[in-house]
Amino acid sequence: MTTVPTTLDPWREKGIPLDKQFRSWRERVKAPYNKRDVDAYTRARVILMNGVENECWNYSHHFARCTDNPAIKGLLAQTRMVEQQQQTTINWLNPPDQTVLETTIAYEQVAVDLTAYLARNEPDAYVREAFNFGLLEDFDHLYRYSELLDYLEGKDPDSILQGKTEIIPGRPTADHHNDPEVMLRKHYEKNRALPLSKLHTLTLLSAEQQTYLFYKEHGFEYGSRLARELYAEIGEVEEHHVSFYESLLDPSETYLERQVMHELMEVYNYFHCYAQETDPRIKQIWEEFLGMELTHLHLWGEMLKQYQGVDPRELFGDTMAVDFKFTENKEYVRRVLERQRDLRLIAYGWAPKDRLPKDWPSYRYQQIVNAGGIPSEEVVMRQLQQRRPAERPGDELLDRARQVAVKVDADTTAAAVAGDGAATPATQEVK
Ligand SMILES: [Fe+2]
Ligand SMILES: [Fe+2]
Ligand SMILES: [Fe+2]
Ligand SMILES: [Fe+2]
Repeated sequence: MTTVPTTLDPWREKGIPLDKQFRSWRERVKAPYNKRDVDAYTRARVILMNGVENECWNYSHHFARCTDNPAIKGLLAQTRMVEQQQQTTINWLNPPDQTVLETTIAYEQVAVDLTAYLARNEPDAYVREAFNFGLLEDFDHLYRYSELLDYLEGKDPDSILQGKTEIIPGRPTADHHNDPEVMLRKHYEKNRALPLSKLHTLTLLSAEQQTYLFYKEHGFEYGSRLARELYAEIGEVEEHHVSFYESLLDPSETYLERQVMHELMEVYNYFHCYAQETDPRIKQIWEEFLGMELTHLHLWGEMLKQYQGVDPRELFGDTMAVDFKFTENKEYVRRVLERQRDLRLIAYGWAPKDRLPKDWPSYRYQQIVNAGGIPSEEVVMRQLQQRRPAERPGDELLDRARQVAVKVDADTTAAAVAGDGAATPATQEVK
């Protein structure tokens, strides 16, 4: 692979003119990758950039609903149409024979290796601690879903992960359920925070939001009560993560500043995708979309100058160093796990779990949601019951899981599906 520079001047780099950015259906929809030979991190980039585009589309609508400036509304409509076309191209690279659970494993791999790398390189200590905290939760999700993949579809999660990301318990998912207010963090100060912290936060927020959406959109596709409950449980944790990361953003950033930040985030992420991509066909897509985003950035930077009298370079710097890459973070994750597995959230901070106040609000919340059993514990227990003697790392959870009263309710949904006679892996109930 040719060497690609890691810095660029995003304000001077030439982009693709806006009137050359719309694509036909034929141009937009590309052949999917082959799930058997795609590199795990190519798939990770596809998942990440789908989330980034979705956030940019979504934010653009939000902005449009809150402004009456025709020039701004007009440019939002133009760039938003491009964002959603890009999203189709990217998301449609996922192949139809990749099951929801296989894709789920890939989503959690993205969460782990994205969060870990960003944390390792995050300049702000408080933001870094927030990333480390979230990291151990997604790391545990990967373990729970891996058990479900094995249990329900009889597949090895390493066929997706390719040995790049470990499958061991993190902070137990049963402990991720917090009182909603406890999730909120202190925000960075927009005038003091480095542009890199802003880009890290918005990138991670986009990825977590996409994970939330994916679980909410696809969890119902399994007939198994256990699978449906596990998607409900972890889907809710992803909602926590969205609230958690978005609370790091400084709310005094204006809509226009945020819009420029979104475009800059797209440039940042397409740049590393382009620099790191090993599949030449997909690399071309990253390069083309990078060209589109540079133009979006320039146009929105002009808007910022015109309507707020602010040069975007003052806010976001002259040059951009992009050293992000999807890569293994096993050592880093293990170190964070050792130090922080037992940390829990308190108002705007963290505390060891044995030093939580008696009236910690999350106790009450956990009592409510875990009242009828905990799917993330049950999946481990069931898997251990059906499988060879407990030998894997994390099997100590068996003891804990055995303490969970498991009552298998009749699953009317599964019964209804089974009534069709369609006994596919997605419709088999777990007994
Ligand atoms: Fe975009
Ligand atoms: Fe997760
Ligand atoms: Fe997450
Ligand atoms: Fe854009």
